[in-house]
Amino acid sequence: MITLTIDGKTCQAKEGEYLLNVARANGIYIPAICYLTRCSPTLACRLCLVEADEKQVYACNAKVKEGMRVKTVTESIAKERRAIMEVYDVNHPLQCGVCDQSGDCELQNNTLYMKVDSQSYAVQDVHRPTAHWGVMTYDPGLCIVCEKCVTVCKDMIGSNALSTVKRGAEALDKSYKESMPKDAYAMWNKLNKSLIGFEEDKCIDCGECISVCPVGALVSTDFQYRSNSWELTKIPASNPHASDCSLMYYEVKHTSIEDKNPTIYRVTNEHHYASLNGATRFGYDFANTTASKDEAQFEEAIAAFKKAQSIKFNSYITNEEALILEKLREKLGVKLINEDAKRYQNFMSAYAKASGSSLYSATLEDIHNANFVVSVGSFLKSDAPSVKYAFNNAITLNKGAGLYFHPIADPHIEGFGKKGKTIETIAHRPMNEEAILFLLLDLFGKDLPQDVADYLTSLKEKRVKTITETIKETVVEIVKDEETGEEKEVKKMVPKKVETQVEYEYTKLLDSIGSDETLLDTINAMLDKKDSFALIVGEDVIFHPKSENMARLCGMIEKYTPFNVMVVPTQTNTLGVSLICQLDDEAEGFTIGYNEKANYELSALGDGNLDMPALNQQEGTFTSLDKRVVPTNVALPYGGYVLNDLANVLLEEDVEYTIEYTQSLPTAQGFKAIEFDELSNEYKNDRTQNRGYELNAASLECETSFSFLEKIEMITSSVIYKANPINQFNAFTAKAKQLDDKNGLYLSESLAETLSLASGDKVSISANNVEVIADVTVDNQIEGEVAYVSYFEKNSETEQLFTNSRYNSATIKKV
Ligand code: SF4
Ligand code: SF4
Ligand code: FES
Repeated sequence: MITLTIDGKTCQAKEGEYLLNVARANGIYIPAICYLTRCSPTLACRLCLVEADEKQVYACNAKVKEGMRVKTVTESIAKERRAIMEVYDVNHPLQCGVCDQSGDCELQNNTLYMKVDSQSYAVQDVHRPTAHWGVMTYDPGLCIVCEKCVTVCKDMIGSNALSTVKRGAEALDKSYKESMPKDAYAMWNKLNKSLIGFEEDKCIDCGECISVCPVGALVSTDFQYRSNSWELTKIPASNPHASDCSLMYYEVKHTSIEDKNPTIYRVTNEHHYASLNGATRFGYDFANTTASKDEAQFEEAIAAFKKAQSIKFNSYITNEEALILEKLREKLGVKLINEDAKRYQNFMSAYAKASGSSLYSATLEDIHNANFVVSVGSFLKSDAPSVKYAFNNAITLNKGAGLYFHPIADPHIEGFGKKGKTIETIAHRPMNEEAILFLLLDLFGKDLPQDVADYLTSLKEKRVKTITETIKETVVEIVKDEETGEEKEVKKMVPKKVETQVEYEYTKLLDSIGSDETLLDTINAMLDKKDSFALIVGEDVIFHPKSENMARLCGMIEKYTPFNVMVVPTQTNTLGVSLICQLDDEAEGFTIGYNEKANYELSALGDGNLDMPALNQQEGTFTSLDKRVVPTNVALPYGGYVLNDLANVLLEEDVEYTIEYTQSLPTAQGFKAIEFDELSNEYKNDRTQNRGYELNAASLECETSFSFLEKIEMITSSVIYKANPINQFNAFTAKAKQLDDKNGLYLSESLAETLSLASGDKVSISANNVEVIADVTVDNQIEGEVAYVSYFEKNSETEQLFTNSRYNSATIKKV
């Protein structure tokens, strides 16, 4: 830690931190419009000008030094800032009664803060028409070209869909250069030349650019003109659609003048701390609004539970509901069936035995902070967008490097850095993840158990390869002295390419991956100056015929290599359910389904025998991929029965609210006996999470058993993969009106061409003795020969095309 003073206040900071962040963490205000925490400084607004050790610097771009003395404002800085704000206000309306950001606008706020009450500058405006980009609308007339949207899309999201383009305006009057403060003129000159341009094919409709826009230039098309932001009530919650369980806000207001019932108008986030995916930002209207209390139905439900032998459910439920189901299992002797959580539970139990810890070690922040990231077995773009953002962020900001192993090529990931230098994407053959995990152990393992080390050695052989080197060769030239005419010998060093035979160690694991020794060279080159490692393990590995062995390998990687490992939980509360419930493999007898198809259905989707509240109508907790128990709150009212009402009858309890179960979550599994109302849900100024609490991990006795790599039955032709399109996560996002992807077959442009298919066609897909008719969508954000089949709708027939793996071989015919 180093010590500095800002406006006389002594502050502690980490080496390499930006002054602006240190000031914020210490509650000291420095104006700044263009800066984004976790992204690189764009230096567009120049408002963060400060004086550090008698020199003017930009606080967002200046790193702190020991003993630094900082003044956040001086007379000349105040003059500069005011001129900048005047420039921003040239041709920019400030009485924006119709702007979405009005009342919550950084331009308005800074204009008032800088006391701008007159305008010294003028320039002729240019025609700048409004554009509609996917789910958003861009109004260039309001854009201040702070480039926050460009920066977040590049440094955080990794899509690179936005850039600055020419505005086509007339040049500024030359006299301004002389008369204006320097920074204000430079900022205006740039502002006057640029606008924001958009590449649709790269955009993933995440809406993070809307979130960072300080004015109302980029807005959600659906939300535009529907409400002033100050009229909305912000309800803190946690992402109900994915296991990042990110902090988010439901912003609600009455539906209309006639209808006083609240409606969610939009979802927002605190972009300095955590990003949201598109499904969460736009898929919020999934509440179960038709429910009412029908006593006869309730009695029927009680009767159904009394005769049930199994309860089938998924992991889109709260920890408290999972605990209620577990209590029902204990009392009624029913089987609990949740395939997603059961697979995760099995995986983590094998993993824990090998790693010696009941939980994996990495958090999202560890991935953001790593400088060497490897992803194995995750279709990151739609399986875990926030993990993908963290991966991109690590490469872009930490001088990092990374490897992405997946059979479906993702051009976005290839765009994270320089191929072969800072990012390598390896489209390996399907189902070959085990060899990759062995390779990681081989390359990074230290003091491995003898049998593992012997096995890895047994896969090695010495090989010889020819490399071309450039050497310096001495050549002698005869040079004639022009004056004397005398000839003399001059020695010169000239570069020369020579071919040399070198011996190297080859591992047969590379054959299994479908790679060769160049991959080892690439990894070696990437590892230069890397000291912070993160491994992402995804659903392909958890959902794999050999997942148990792979879990052990991952556990060993955690224990014997420098990698921090994250085993991405598949659904929102997969981790919580896997810790709370004792699960069985197969349902038997009369089965109750909770948001799943069964003999008797409880449904938050409004399509069952008894209604349940959706996750935006419930309070409770989720267990996030950061291994945190985080709270979520009620955004919309709910008129029907909840699971707790059924439990009260069946368990003969008298629990008023479901959240009374929060403090009873199983402490033996790492939960803490803390009441729901004690859980906070916020980030602090210094960016630390003050959200719920972290699970306690238990230390376990290690067992390092593993099985050798065996040949598995390879799926080589007409491969289909079970995955969802980027913004459809489940049956709840499928209800959302802004998300309209079709359930069906998604394939790359090249594969579509080979199969003579186009978006809108219908195909029959046959596999596992099942034939499914599906819609075709050409996904221009994937490449290669592997098509994916979505399953986000409830009871998707497409799920039957797969058995014990996310891959299968299928026959696809146009119908
Ligand atoms: S659209 Fe918004 S975020 Fe992007 S440059 Fe313009 S003002 Fe800044
Ligand atoms: S919606 Fe997301 S991907 Fe698209 S431009 Fe904005 S930040 Fe980039
Ligand atoms: S915040 Fe530093 S230049 Fe804009």
